Amino acid sequence: MKEKRGDGCLTMNTTNTGVLSHYGGLLDLPNHTQPVTLLEGDTPLIPVPRLAEALGGGFELYVKYEGLNPTGSFKDRGMTAAISEALGRGAKAVICASTGNTAASAAAYAARAGMRAVVLIPEGKVAAGKLAGAVAYGAQVVQVKGSFDDALSLVVAISEKHPIALVNSLNPYRLEGQKSAAFEICDTLGRAPDLLCLPVGNAGNITSYWMGFKQYHRLKGSGLPRFLGVQAAGAAPLVLGHPVEKPETVATAIRIGRPARGEQALQAAEESGGRIIAASDDEILSMQRKLAGEGIWVEPASAAGLAGLANLMRRGEMDLAGQRVVAVCTGHGLKDPDIIAQQMGAPMILPPTIEALEAVIQTP
Ligand SMILES: Cc1ncc(COP(=O)(O)O)c(C=O)c1O
Repeated sequence: MKEKRGDGCLTMNTTNTGVLSHYGGLLDLPNHTQPVTLLEGDTPLIPVPRLAEALGGGFELYVKYEGLNPTGSFKDRGMTAAISEALGRGAKAVICASTGNTAASAAAYAARAGMRAVVLIPEGKVAAGKLAGAVAYGAQVVQVKGSFDDALSLVVAISEKHPIALVNSLNPYRLEGQKSAAFEICDTLGRAPDLLCLPVGNAGNITSYWMGFKQYHRLKGSGLPRFLGVQAAGAAPLVLGHPVEKPETVATAIRIGRPARGEQALQAAEESGGRIIAASDDEILSMQRKLAGEGIWVEPASAAGLAGLANLMRRGEMDLAGQRVVAVCTGHGLKDPDIIAQQMGAPMILPPTIEALEAVIQTP
């Protein structure tokens, strides 16, 4: 049975109504906001007991699979809010700096709203699936000879000078939309988990999760998780305590040396009783393979949260006995297919005969 909604989308009954429709009452958005949605959110919380066992066992582990949002990353939650606000106030164009996922998301939601999108990316450092997305959705893509941090400084400056709406997570409405992931986790589990682990780049996501969990706790007594934020070791300003001029990591989504929301991220981790640590590229790629072994293919950055957790457990620095843990996996593996292609040899080639096939596979 199809239902027509206020914003024109058709849904099968009420399975997923989009972030603004579902949680709009809890998001601090101006009255002029005009909903633009691709039915983002409502992502699954997947239990991974085998992986929990491999990490040491004795606790419940769930993956919040944010790669299943419309453009393949968690960015869509904040983007529906930022673009809806921008459209409502009459903006005709939006701009952002991006390591790739924000670009694809901004491009898609701007297209949906009939607005122009301009995205700035660091030259040669954006995964193929993300760049293709931004182009496919019709954004003007500009490569900057420099880092994400350089690109962010540029878009902030130009949005102050020209009538073009900034949709990076410096835009407060992005954070409002991203709070919805915390609400969903509490609604699905019936309360907040004991520990939430997630990757940290520009630090908007960890900041909004903390805002969301605190708000839900005030309203519903849902409890507060400890946070384990994880940066890549080659791009870990919040762990080192100073900016990183030339950040480097295979996890290109979090290749950020000067996080815009760094102070808030540190505060969130501390207030929650948790911490921010670093994981090496090898640890991140190893966790990416482990997650794929559970049927969950994520891009490298998305495996960082669990890679950090595995590191602490291996060193005996994390006791999770009887606890419930949620790992946020922020983006889909299809975003960065090259990283897998680089790690494997080309598949073998056989003559088209049953004998040749029998010789190379073992049947039970
Ligand atoms: C897949 C993925 N994971 C994690 C992050 C980090 O999120 P934040 O910059 O909000 O810390 C990003 C940011 O681009 C991302 O694309």
